[in-house]
Amino acid sequence: MLGRTHQASPIFPVSQSYSAAAAQAVCATLGRAAVCGRAIFQVEFSLSRGSASRGRTAVIVGAQWGDEGKGKIVDVLTQTFSVVARYAGGHNAGHTVIINGKKFILQLVPGGILRPECISVVGNGVVIDPLAFLKEVASLRAAGVKVDGNLFVSSRAQVILPYHRMMELGSENAPGRVKIGTTSRGIGPAYEDKMGRRGLRVADLLDSQLLRTHIENACREKNMIAHALFNSDPLDADKMFGEYADAAEQIAPFVRDTALLLNHALAEGKSIVFEGAQGTMLDIDHGTYPFVTSSSSTSGGAATGTGVPPTSIDTVIGITKAYCTRVGSGPFPSELAGLQGGAQGEDLRKRGNEYGAVTGRPRRTGWLDLPLLRYAGMINGISWLVVTKLDVLDHLTEIPVCVGHKVDGKETDEVPAQACGYEKLECIYRKMPGWASSTQAIRTVEALPKAAREYLAFIEKETGARVGMISTGPDREQTILVPDFISELGLKSG
Ligand code: GDP
Ligand code: IMO
Ligand code: MG
Repeated sequence: MLGRTHQASPIFPVSQSYSAAAAQAVCATLGRAAVCGRAIFQVEFSLSRGSASRGRTAVIVGAQWGDEGKGKIVDVLTQTFSVVARYAGGHNAGHTVIINGKKFILQLVPGGILRPECISVVGNGVVIDPLAFLKEVASLRAAGVKVDGNLFVSSRAQVILPYHRMMELGSENAPGRVKIGTTSRGIGPAYEDKMGRRGLRVADLLDSQLLRTHIENACREKNMIAHALFNSDPLDADKMFGEYADAAEQIAPFVRDTALLLNHALAEGKSIVFEGAQGTMLDIDHGTYPFVTSSSSTSGGAATGTGVPPTSIDTVIGITKAYCTRVGSGPFPSELAGLQGGAQGEDLRKRGNEYGAVTGRPRRTGWLDLPLLRYAGMINGISWLVVTKLDVLDHLTEIPVCVGHKVDGKETDEVPAQACGYEKLECIYRKMPGWASSTQAIRTVEALPKAAREYLAFIEKETGARVGMISTGPDREQTILVPDFISELGLKSG
């Protein structure tokens, strides 16, 4: 049953409560003073100082292949969290938030932007396309959303330039290369340049002289490579410089040392949600490599991608659909008969409106995969799960769930390190009773049909994590908050 006393599990550690003991442990680990640039500020963790204690933090991480509904859940949490910080990815993400029927699709801008009192930060782990960022800001402004004085971009974030897209398009279509089915936003090549230590950071974008030299040199090199490998048409460095110098001027007011900003906010007692993009199975290290994105989308990325230390992360919240989807190529063990065939797969796609928020691509659909959810729990340290899109299963009289994986007839907990390893992997299914009635817009656990409560309890039992929130529709209001989750995260009920 939901809300029962949580049993500790080696896979899903029990979430920390904000007790004096926990705060003292943090205090002992971090010490009392932090040096940031020339300013030395006292970070007081002692609870005896009351309001001077460190703000609480939670990471929102996709527990599947992205599009789990992270945008909606971040929006719900911002009712009390003061800051939202994106830590990875770029405008490959599409986070949908619906407030009283009004739809917003956010790509680079964190979900906090939809509450004027909230601070939104694009962290250093993000790759930012300046033109895409400005377009998003313009459309938010046009929709009446406040973006001045509450939206900040890290001076250390990497910049996506047109040659990143050129390289990506060339390589995705090149003979002999694995086709990943990327979003064609230049994400991978931008992270390649970051790791190759030849990238342009936002601080460099604002330095006109450096920008010109960087673009001239990079264009010369990328044009030669792209022509030789993919027969691409060359890009014009002068034109590019003009366009990006202009964008730099417009971006300048948003640029900050966001690591400093975030650590200051924490020291002042402000709470922070780290907004993940993509999902665990798309993580560069832990996902279905090479069919992954190029960033650390798992919870560890929240520390490196923002400059907030891992010791300041309190809770990791994993978001999972009540079933599973994936967009792009790559392994998907519990997939239903692919994009072409399969009435059930098509049925889930239609009912769940499973089409990319930004690209419009149809998403592949399948049943919930509990072994992969346990894996996501282990990799991220998930203590709370949020189950979204429960209402999409409303019509079913029985719901298959993948409860185990078999390789060569033997059950295994190990997730394959090679994409080809998934070809041998077989799902063991158990059929759960469906509820065959509407859960749409239900707002309390008690009002859910018994079979739906049992489905959620089964997820808890099989993963060892607690279900803290259930989403029963796309709108902000169509949400169930479990009382213990409300009290641990300091949320408002109802
Ligand atoms: P994200 O990338 O994880 O933020 O997820 P997306 O926004 O890409 O995709 C989630 C989709 O499901 C969006 O269209 C949401 O509006 C929608 N959605 C979120 N929660 C629910 C829910 O509980 N029920 C239904 N029917 N739709 C939902
Ligand atoms: P959100 O944040 C779902 C997928 C792409 C492709 C792979 C690599 O909305 O959950 P990339 O362009 O990143 O190099 O593509 O990753 N992908 C996503 N799938 N949701 C996302 O983001 C995704 N971002 C990237 O489809 O398979
Ligand atoms: Mg999405």
